[in-house]
Parts: sequence; C-alpha cells; structure tokens
Amino acid sequence: MAFNIAIDGPAGAGKSTIARRVAQELSYLYVDTGAMYRAMALYFQRNRISPENETEISAACDQINVTLTNENGEQQVFLNGENVNAYIRTEEVGKITSAISVYASVRQKLTQLQRELASVSNLIMDGRDIGTCVLPKAQVKIYLTASVETRGKRRFLELQEKGVDCKLEQICEDIRQRDEQDMNRQISPLRQAEDAIFIDSSFLSIEEVVNQILDLVRQKISFTS
Ligand code: DC
Repeated sequence: MAFNIAIDGPAGAGKSTIARRVAQELSYLYVDTGAMYRAMALYFQRNRISPENETEISAACDQINVTLTNENGEQQVFLNGENVNAYIRTEEVGKITSAISVYASVRQKLTQLQRELASVSNLIMDGRDIGTCVLPKAQVKIYLTASVETRGKRRFLELQEKGVDCKLEQICEDIRQRDEQDMNRQISPLRQAEDAIFIDSSFLSIEEVVNQILDLVRQKISFTS
C-alpha cells in the first residue's frame, strides 16, 4: 500500500517549500494540488468564463484536462497538453482560483485525479482538503499554519525579491480575504482534520518544520513495519 502524507493549511504557511523538502528527503512524489486548481482557473480566465458563473464553469469542466509530470523533483502542470507552470502563479490567477474552487464540479474532477495518484505512489500532497476529504486515510496528516502577519511578510519579501511593487498591508488584507473564502466555503472548507498534527510555523525555521514532519513519518513507518 502506498504511504501518503497530507499537508493542509492556509495560503502562505510554507506548505509547498516544506512538502518539497520532505519529498526530497524521502524520495516521495510531491503533489501540489493548488497548482491543479490554478490550472483550471487559468482555463476559465483565458476563455473569459466568469468565476461567478457556476453553470458555465461546470459545463466547461469536461473540456479541461489537467495532468502532472515530475521533472527533477519539480512538478509540471499541463492544461490540455500545454505546460502552464509559468502562468499560474500570478495574484490574479490566485484570486480566480480561490473563487472557482468552491464549486463541486471543479473539486470532484481534481479530487478524483488526486486519489488516483495517491493510490499508486508514496507521496506528500499539499492543499486545503487533503487530510479531511481527498485522503482521509493518509498515514500522516499535518495542519501547517502561521499568523497572517508572518505569512504576509513572507509573501512581501518574495515579491520584493522579484522586483514587484507591493504594499505589506494590502498583501495581509488579501491573505485575510483568501482565508475567509477558503475556510468558509460549503464544500471541503479548509480545516484541520481531527487526526492531523498542528504545526504553527510562525517562529520555526523551514529546517525545524521539515525535521518535525520527518520524525512523525519515521515513527509511523517503524510502528507499522
Ligand atoms: O495553495 P495555493 O495558494 O496554490 O492554492 C490556490 C487556491 O486553490 C486556494 O485559494 C484554494 C484552492 N485550493 C483548494 O481549494 N483545495 C486544494 N486542495 C488546493 C487549493
């Protein structure tokens, strides 16, 4: 049986950095489910389908094919055969993603694909509903969070490094709005699974969080073998 690690948490908590490192250490596959939702959002943006129009979004789902490959440990996301990694990280696509991920048709499509991947590969998967909905039987579940201020500051520094002009207060406000939307939607809202380990990374280094997760995985593996 494949060994599955689920990491959920709000935007900017450091899930992808940490999940990527844990995957490297264990030689597991890393699956970033946010990127899959972002690829769908890009399709709706490009085809001028409003995030508010659930009927059109649901009808368009059949025309969308999201696939993943892994190149040198880096996940590549394909939208109908096109590698879209370079287009899915904008703030605009992030906002559309949060809005369209409330719909059952969108979630069903991606949940199915995520479960298929997890059934055949040892992997670490990050997102919002992995421990609660996608992989309720994952052997290790983590809920990773940090304060809005910490997450805002991290994002601010990231954008500054890329030379993007931005304001810390605005970034914190966007994060608050995204939390509100992700935590209060009707289907698969972001919340901690009952059996997930809570980690607040506000005052922890990446290394400390990675080691904490590796310890949990090793304990679990030695307990079950
Ligand atoms: O992790 P991220 O910031 O790339 O995710 C973008 C959006 O996708 C996020 O606002 C909520 C949505 N998402 C989701 O609803 N379920 C997931 N498993 C992953 C992401």
